[in-house]
Amino acid sequence: MDYKIGVISGDGIGPEIVAEAKKVLDAVGKIYGISFNYTEILMGGISIDKTGKPLTEEAIADAKASDAVLMGSIGGNTATSPWYQLPPSLRPEAGLLALRKALKLFANLRPALLYPQLKEACPLRDEIVGDGFDMIIVRELTGGLYFGARKTEEIDGRITATDTLTYNEDEIRRIARKAFDVASRRRKKLTSVDKANVLDSSRLWRKIVEEVAGDYPQVAYEHMLVDNAAMQLVKDPGQFDVILTENMFGDILSDEASMLTGSIGMLASASLNETKFGLYEPSGGSAPDIAGQGIANPIATILSAAMMLRFSLDQDRAADAIGAAVAGTLEEGYRTADIMPQRETRGIRQVSTCEMGDLICQRLV
Ligand code: NAD
Ligand code: IPM
Ligand code: MN
Repeated sequence: MDYKIGVISGDGIGPEIVAEAKKVLDAVGKIYGISFNYTEILMGGISIDKTGKPLTEEAIADAKASDAVLMGSIGGNTATSPWYQLPPSLRPEAGLLALRKALKLFANLRPALLYPQLKEACPLRDEIVGDGFDMIIVRELTGGLYFGARKTEEIDGRITATDTLTYNEDEIRRIARKAFDVASRRRKKLTSVDKANVLDSSRLWRKIVEEVAGDYPQVAYEHMLVDNAAMQLVKDPGQFDVILTENMFGDILSDEASMLTGSIGMLASASLNETKFGLYEPSGGSAPDIAGQGIANPIATILSAAMMLRFSLDQDRAADAIGAAVAGTLEEGYRTADIMPQRETRGIRQVSTCEMGDLICQRLV
C-alpha cells in the first residue's frame, strides 16, 4: 500500500522528533509492505518566517490532500521569540488552531499509560502507582475557550481583556459519543470532567453527557469536577480509564498525566474528525530549551505515528509492531535524558534522539 502523508516538522525540536518518526515509519513499512510519500507542510514559526503567515491556504490544501498528517511541534519561547511580538492571530499557535478548525479535528485522543519499564521515571511513590495505569484523555479540540470570541478593549479607562467559553449541544454530543465509543472498546469506565459547580457550559456538558450515556449502558460513567480530577490524577491515577473533557481542561490535564508516564516526551496524540483522516502530534511542544541538542525524546512522535497507522491507515499490525519495539527498547534500558532515573541505575543507558529512533527501528519485527 502507498500512502500520502503530510508532514509538519515545525519548530524547535519538531524537525528532530519527526525525523525519527519517519525513520520508524519507513522501517516498519519495509516489513509490512507499506510505502509513505511525504509532503512537507509549513506551519507555525517556520511558516511565519517563510510566508509571513503561520498557516497558508496552500498548507491547508496539502493537509487535506493527504491520507493523514504527522506533526512535530510548533512555536518558540513565548517570552523571547520575535514571533510573539506579532498580533495573536499571526503567531505560531494560531496556525495550529486554524488547521484543527479547518480539518474539523474535534476529537483529541491522548493515551497516558505507564510502561512498567518507566516506573522509576514516574514521580509518584510505588504504593500510589501500584500496578501502573492506562488511561486515555479524550479532549474536545475545536471549541471552548480556544475558539470563543476574545477582545482587548478599554473600559472605564482600564485595559480589559475578555475570552469566552462557548459550547453548543452538538459539539458536546459528538465528543461525548467519541469518548463513549472509546470506552466501549476499553475497560468501560468513563469520567467526564467539568466545572459544573460554576460554569454554564459545564452544566450543559453534563446534561448532554447524561443523554449520550443512555446509549452506552455497558459503560459505567461518572462526573468529576476538574479541580478534583487534577488532584485524583496524582492521588490514584489507576482509577481512570477514559477521561472526557473540554478543550482547555484537557490541555492542562494531559500535560499533568504525561508527567505521570515519566515525561511529556512519552505522550502521543491523535486529532480526529468524523472521517478516517487524522493529525498525529505529540502532546508536548517545541521545547525551545532543548532544541538542536539532539536530546529530545522522540517516543511520543513515534507512538503518534503508530496511532496514525491504526486509525487512519488501518495498518494495525504495523502499529502493534511499533508499540512492541518501543516497549522492547525501554525494556533493554535505553532512555533519552527526560526519562533517565534520578539515581544511577544499573543497566540503564542514556541515548540521543537519533539513537533512540535507530534502536526502535532495529527492534521492529
Ligand atoms: P513544551 O512542551 O515545549 O516544553 C515543556 C518542557 O518539556 C520543557 O522543559 C521541554 O524541554 C520538555 N519537553 C517537551 N517535549 C519534550 C520531548 N519530546 N523530550 C524531552 N523533553 C521535552 O512546553 P512550553 O515550553 O510551555 O512551550 C514551548 C512552545 O511550544 C510554545 O511556543 C508553545 O506554544 C508550543 N507548544 C506547541 C505544541 C504543539 O505544537 N502541539 C504543544 C505545546 C506547546
Ligand atoms: C497542545 C498545545 C496547543 C493547545 C497549543 C500549542 C495551541 O498546547 O496541543 O496541547 O493548547 O492545544
Ligand atoms: Mn498543551
